[in-house]
Amino acid sequence: MSSHVPNAPLRTAVVGTGSIARSSHLPALQKLAAEGGVEVVAAVDVDGPAVRAFAEEFGIPHASTDLDATLSAVRPDLVVLCTPPAVHREQSVAALRAGAWVWCEKPPSPSLADFDAVAAAEGGTGGQSAEEGVGSEAAERGDGTGPYASIVFQHRFGSGARHVRALLRGGALGRPLVAHCQTTWYRDKAYYAVPWRGRWATEGGGPAMGHGIHQTDLLLDLLGPWAEVRGMAARLVHDVETEDVSTALVRFADGAVATLVNSVLSPDEVSRIRVDCELATIELTHLYGHRNADWRITPAPGVPEETVAAWRDFGADEPSSHLAQLRVLVDDITSGRRHTTSGAGGRRTLEFITALYKSAFTGTTVRAGDIGPGDPYYTELHGGAPGWAPAATVKEEDHV
Ligand SMILES: NC(=O)c1ccc[n+]([C@@H]2O[C@H](COP(=O)([O-])OP(=O)(O)OC[C@H]3O[C@@H](n4cnc5c(N)ncnc54)[C@H](O)[C@@H]3O)[C@@H](O)[C@H]2O)c1
Repeated sequence: MSSHVPNAPLRTAVVGTGSIARSSHLPALQKLAAEGGVEVVAAVDVDGPAVRAFAEEFGIPHASTDLDATLSAVRPDLVVLCTPPAVHREQSVAALRAGAWVWCEKPPSPSLADFDAVAAAEGGTGGQSAEEGVGSEAAERGDGTGPYASIVFQHRFGSGARHVRALLRGGALGRPLVAHCQTTWYRDKAYYAVPWRGRWATEGGGPAMGHGIHQTDLLLDLLGPWAEVRGMAARLVHDVETEDVSTALVRFADGAVATLVNSVLSPDEVSRIRVDCELATIELTHLYGHRNADWRITPAPGVPEETVAAWRDFGADEPSSHLAQLRVLVDDITSGRRHTTSGAGGRRTLEFITALYKSAFTGTTVRAGDIGPGDPYYTELHGGAPGWAPAATVKEEDHV
């Protein structure tokens, strides 16, 4: 087990030293290190020269190409996985078994079966995330002391998401009725020329999984449990195994309905969420991260001005970012709490995306809880569907 000393910085290992580690994780870790919350003690990558250069640049004492040896030698409290999705399962399990908490880049792992295997390697069950509060899903899960695995879903964090979540969950805006969730981005042929992209086994999925996952995750976080989804997927431009665009109709457990679009074919790029409630419309418009000014609240007729002014007071601006999530995560770990993107709070987004694919590839409505062991979509997001699965894995009997 890790040897975390109460009140000491969390000894942290970074695994995968490519672009997201460099652009987002190290700046966030360095900021928290300066505040005494973490200490980056190791870097691991299969590329020896790259990991040594990374460790030297950021002053990290231990550089290695071997994760297991590093876990044994360094005994980190926290392992941050910035590797490609295909290795998220095995690396999460290895870190948990070594007693470390895990913060894994999205997409969590390529399938619900993989996600459940990681969850099975977590420690005891206990507290709840500070973000969720009493009476939350986490409290109902009866969580314990960890270590737990959590996912990087940084768009749920920062002042804007926190304020709007409180307004929606507290019922201040009345019932949510209609929502739109849009990730319309543009990726060119050169982007898909990289061999691991556009393939189920290596990228994990198309834009429903790789790109739209952040807006989808935020929508589910804001609106609560979803009940059913009807999806549609298409491969319109790129020479890929996965889709390059998908759409979905969603019904939430409380009756609200939503539309969803995930595209890499949209020259005018935007990420948008809009929720029409009884008393106001909330709209978020941004691209890769949001701040207070990116949110707009439009009241229904008759709402008093002071009420609208209170709704529009987002407080000090804290942009959504890896740093914003890491702050909450470190606080949860040091308090022995399950983080909000861990367990059921991370699984629901993967389950929703899996259901979108199953619905799209089978032409059926898929309900929450439908996909479990024995379902072809439990182990593979393409479910073996003809025309979508890699040719060698198509199982015709599953799709008669
Ligand atoms: N949260 C976000 O907004 C966001 C943005 C971009 C990427 N990502 C995710 O981050 C992850 C990494 O993406 P990236 O763009 O940094 O990729 P990258 O290719 O730039 O970096 C990945 C690194 O992992 C290393 N690696 C590969 N296999 C390994 C293994 N088995 N053990 C150790 N190291 C290994 C590679 O050598 C490389 O240095 C992906 O899951 C991606 O979806 C998240």
